[in-house]
Amino acid sequence: MHSQKTDMIDKKNNKTYLNEDYWLRLHANFKGKLQSVGWPGLSEEFNKIKYESELNSFLSILSQLDIQKEDTLKILEVGVGTGFWIAAVQEFCSQHELIPELTAADISLDALDFVVSRYPNLIAEHLDLACVPVDKFAQKFDIVLSVMVLLHLTNPESFNNGLRFSATSVRDGGLLVLYEPAIVNSYSPWSDRPISSENNSLGRHLTEFDKILSKQGFERLAIFPGASWLTNSPIEAHTYIGFKIRKFFWKILTKTIYSSDLLSSFSRRIILKLDALIKQSGNGCSGKFLIYKKCY
Ligand SMILES: C[S@@+](CC[C@H](N)C(=O)[O-])C[C@H]1O[C@@H](n2cnc3c(N)ncnc32)[C@H](O)[C@@H]1O
Repeated sequence: MHSQKTDMIDKKNNKTYLNEDYWLRLHANFKGKLQSVGWPGLSEEFNKIKYESELNSFLSILSQLDIQKEDTLKILEVGVGTGFWIAAVQEFCSQHELIPELTAADISLDALDFVVSRYPNLIAEHLDLACVPVDKFAQKFDIVLSVMVLLHLTNPESFNNGLRFSATSVRDGGLLVLYEPAIVNSYSPWSDRPISSENNSLGRHLTEFDKILSKQGFERLAIFPGASWLTNSPIEAHTYIGFKIRKFFWKILTKTIYSSDLLSSFSRRIILKLDALIKQSGNGCSGKFLIYKKCY
């Protein structure tokens, strides 16, 4: 499975991102911590705030989707990381009398070991989305969940394979739930170059997801804000100036409050309050949940 493809080279800054190496290293270094899957350069307490914001959105989205199943609800999470979303899915299922059967996939064995130690009933699948056969799990799952994963497949072929694999794994009538920095505003510097200085992620236009998935028989049911730029960095704005202003504040926050566990935990309530206000305004969202249904 070791495909040492060069996913993104930044010649100017001499930085290379190799998808597999990068994630194996992060999971080995930050085992089980949100820093392994969120913002590794920022404090763990800040990462908890970011995830809390996204969790609030995720739970409200799940309650708006009419998910029903008399027998087991088969769910695949690709790029499971620390298993943060598994707990949310289990909680939702127990509240709605659903019986989940969970499969978790990741490129990192360290990540899978950690998740299985927390959730022993889970089925673990060690795979690389960049090259897994797209029909490995064809039509097998009621729901496929992919939270902040595809953006890290910066190589176009890897991204296509990962998205097609996720889509093909959904049964007819099932749901594909993506969480991505999908670009919808008129200005974004990230649509054709990496979002991060480490070259490890790429923002893509919403239309790109829609185009690929409509060819796979999906229709988009909804798009929901996940986290605002305040908790997950700005990715876009209506204007260049608007983007620069957000970027300026984001930089200050990352160099001060967000780097410190103490300051982050002290400011948690106010950050979440502001973040919720930005999300409610419908402008200033960073990550977005995209809900697609596979038509019969
Ligand atoms: C940003 S983290 C998100 C983890 C989790 N979904 C969450 O939201 O907490 C990206 C995850 O995708 C996994 N990943 C990255 N590239 C992958 C690939 N090519 N195949 C499978 N998993 C991959 C990483 O190991 C990591 O666990």
